[in-house]
Amino acid sequence: MSSGRDSTRVVPVAVIGPGRVGRELLHRLIKDDAYYRSRYGLEFRVTSVCDSTQGISRPVDGFRKEDLESIIAIKREGGSLTDFSRESAIRTPSFESIAQQAEPGLIAIDCTASEETTPLLLKLIKTGGRVVLANKKPLVGELSVFKQLTASPAACRWETTVASCLPIISILNRMTASGDHIASISGVLSGTMSYLMTQIEQGERFSESLQRAMKLGYTEPDPREDLLGHDQARKALILARTAGWDLDLSKIKVVPLLPGPFCELGRAEFLQRLPELDRGFLEKTRECGQEGAVLRHGVEITPDRGTVELMEVASQSPIGRLLNNNNLVQVESRTFSNPLVVQGRGAGAAATAAGNLSDLVELAFTRSEDQLQEQDRQGKNA
Ligand SMILES: NC(=O)c1ccc[n+]([C@@H]2O[C@H](COP(=O)([O-])OP(=O)(O)OC[C@H]3O[C@@H](n4cnc5c(N)ncnc54)[C@H](OP(=O)(O)O)[C@@H]3O)[C@@H](O)[C@H]2O)c1
Repeated sequence: MSSGRDSTRVVPVAVIGPGRVGRELLHRLIKDDAYYRSRYGLEFRVTSVCDSTQGISRPVDGFRKEDLESIIAIKREGGSLTDFSRESAIRTPSFESIAQQAEPGLIAIDCTASEETTPLLLKLIKTGGRVVLANKKPLVGELSVFKQLTASPAACRWETTVASCLPIISILNRMTASGDHIASISGVLSGTMSYLMTQIEQGERFSESLQRAMKLGYTEPDPREDLLGHDQARKALILARTAGWDLDLSKIKVVPLLPGPFCELGRAEFLQRLPELDRGFLEKTRECGQEGAVLRHGVEITPDRGTVELMEVASQSPIGRLLNNNNLVQVESRTFSNPLVVQGRGAGAAATAAGNLSDLVELAFTRSEDQLQEQDRQGKNA
């Protein structure tokens, strides 16, 4: 489908963090270049890439397709951007080039898992730049930072920080913009937890389900990071703040799936002693089943607090019918007294990069505050 436009608009793009998500994003920007030109009249031009060691940039002209392919190959092999040998690239300490002289219209995409990008993101937003986040960290620290980053719908998109490309942040933003009153948000924000609980429900042992989840790549390298519930707590906080509730992490109570002593073990001993947990899960699952309920390790958030814990839910409820490793979010509000439910794949580098591309397109068509003010000035002078 053609965009119906006569010209193509260039949008300079900076990719911060060419890890799994960042590389997938670069790959999609190369592969789908013709699609974005013809469908939207947009040319996304990558002018900067930064990893933890260095920033490389090619202002105005941007990197060529071969350059981006070389960057992807270097990072896939575990190398650093210091190994990138194109002479025309400007080299700076990490994201300094973006911080010092961001190009007009630049959209920076934070694909790191680092708090260190926060000052850069704030600076970009203050100076009329725009940002897309896959990185949760800048949004779960000080509330004032969250507010500064997300204040203007023209400056920031953070859809993939919760449940990857599953559109939940945009739904909450639309609900708040409509003046709806959100009463509660609940669900399962971890594919690992969905998988474990639905497998156990089907009669599989906890230890076997976890081993399989690790083999399938559903878990973090150390699966305890999923089981402890901190990642779900961070996502719950982002949902709460997006809904307009002024919470911080101390207001999100986390009850880990594992008994206390298990959290203290070394990784090898933990994996070896996993079968000790099987019986407890089996009994709990059986007890629940007799009451028409199932177990889920999920979140419940209200305007003043949140919890991440093992919950018993009706087996015929949306959360009870959750499938495989899906994420699910349900939102109850004045408009949606019968809760609005979103369910689907909620993780993976490809899905996350896809969500970042949607955010990019939206921002590319959104006028910045500066542009709107300029338009007002011109209107007054006419
Ligand atoms: N993977 C998923 O399924 C998924 C889903 C939703 C959201 N996310 C989020 O997306 C983000 C990226 O995930 P990932 O799986 O791609 O992580 P990853 O593979 O670990 O990649 C992280 C990248 O960030 C770079 N980096 C780290 N600190 C930096 C710094 N201070 N300055 C510049 N670059 C820095 C790293 O550089 P080096 O290469 O030099 O170490 C690396 O390239 C995370 O925040 C994650 O939570 C991921």
